[in-house]
Amino acid sequence: MAIELPALPFDKNALEPHISAETLTFHYEKHHATYVLKLNALIEGTDLANSSLEEIIKNSKGPRFNNAAQVWNHTFYWNCLAPNAGGAPTGAIATAIEKSFGSFDEFKAAWNDKAVNNFGSSWTWLVKKSDGTLDIVNTSNAETPLTDETVTTLLTVDLWEHAYYIDYRNVRPNYLNGFWALVNWDFVNQNFA
Ligand SMILES: [Fe+2]
Repeated sequence: MAIELPALPFDKNALEPHISAETLTFHYEKHHATYVLKLNALIEGTDLANSSLEEIIKNSKGPRFNNAAQVWNHTFYWNCLAPNAGGAPTGAIATAIEKSFGSFDEFKAAWNDKAVNNFGSSWTWLVKKSDGTLDIVNTSNAETPLTDETVTTLLTVDLWEHAYYIDYRNVRPNYLNGFWALVNWDFVNQNFA
């Protein structure tokens, strides 16, 4: 049972003008798909050949961890985005953001600051801690909060340059503006519940 590449939850041009079809074609068909291919080569014939992606991530180090986590991180990231989405949060997550950060604007400012200063190929995440409060955490390379049993992962932004170089060159703040126009708050609420 090989790990499969999940279908993108939207058409490749659905996130324009914020994320182009060209970016999604490279990001999904080259980067995400390659992590799946490499992972399957690394688990074939091993004890983890029939394991779930989550189990593989939790029981791996080195290249197997990197490829498995990047498969999971990207699938999660696609679900964090949607056409005709973005703007202010709704539902329970809106209240939780106000509680933890003061307001949505303060949360956005804190997120942008954290993301802009996340060095190199990296991810920024919104997580729910065991006490129910929210936190913004940075990870590097393939590292993911999925491995932290004390938190629930709610939202992410991919900060590897392959996520934005075609559309925004190296200007990460402009990509973050695009990201805020696409955040799928319904998915964030599902994760929060
Ligand atoms: Fe990526």
